[in-house]
Amino acid sequence: MLRQADYNDIDSIVDIHLATLSDGLLAKLGKPFLKKVFYPFCFQSSDVLLMVYELQNKITSFVIYTNNSTLFTHRLLQKKVAIGIAVLKNILFNPSLLVDILVVLKGFRVQLHHGYEDILKNNQAELYLIGTEPAFQGQGIGSILVSQGLKEFSKKLNVSTCLVKTSSFKANQFYLANQFTAIGTEYRGKQCFQILCKQTETIE
Ligand SMILES: CC(C)(COP(=O)(O)OP(=O)(O)OC[C@H]1O[C@@H](n2cnc3c(N)ncnc32)[C@H](O)[C@@H]1OP(=O)(O)O)[C@@H](O)C(=O)NCCC(=O)NCCS
Repeated sequence: MLRQADYNDIDSIVDIHLATLSDGLLAKLGKPFLKKVFYPFCFQSSDVLLMVYELQNKITSFVIYTNNSTLFTHRLLQKKVAIGIAVLKNILFNPSLLVDILVVLKGFRVQLHHGYEDILKNNQAELYLIGTEPAFQGQGIGSILVSQGLKEFSKKLNVSTCLVKTSSFKANQFYLANQFTAIGTEYRGKQCFQILCKQTETIE
């Protein structure tokens, strides 16, 4: 069953986040940061929709959609004290954290395929994060989060196009299998993120 998440789901969501997105900056900032800062911040943001998929009372997947990913990230980065503490606590175990932070602060370079040049100017709605617990992957749950979930998101927040960015080959295959179209590349330091998009008005 797909449903909107609430505060009581944070522990389960954080566990799935750490199990599936451990290479990401948010995970590197540590479990306390995710539990006490990032996810409460998602629930406090009116432009964010967080959904979970439940199977026999167990949360197996989560997805975060945001109406304006640039603004959302910008507001998150304003939590300088909480981020600073998380960096200090985790930098010794994970020196790459500093590089990741510098890359975010430096900004990104985007190259869009021909014909898609205007898309980012007019659309900032984004599938921000998605994860299915490893034991439940490949059972079609992720696809429900990007079909039914995206439908709910587009209705709730009046969105017509949804972007997604990923550096993972597997995730890229997953989005293509779910009718997203590759529209370009975002360069973050040495990392390359594929940018894909899906028109939500075409969802039936
Ligand atoms: C991406 C992810 C959310 C997909 O969730 P899922 O519940 O396994 O997705 P589904 O079972 O609905 O997969 C649907 C289709 O996507 C593709 N796909 C899914 N996982 C794949 C994989 N590991 N490799 C290649 N293709 C994959 C397949 O085409 C699959 O269709 P099929 O089962 O008919 O072959 C999950 O693999 C995951 O949590 N990955 C780690 C986190 C991540 O990379 N998130 C995205 C970046 S934010």
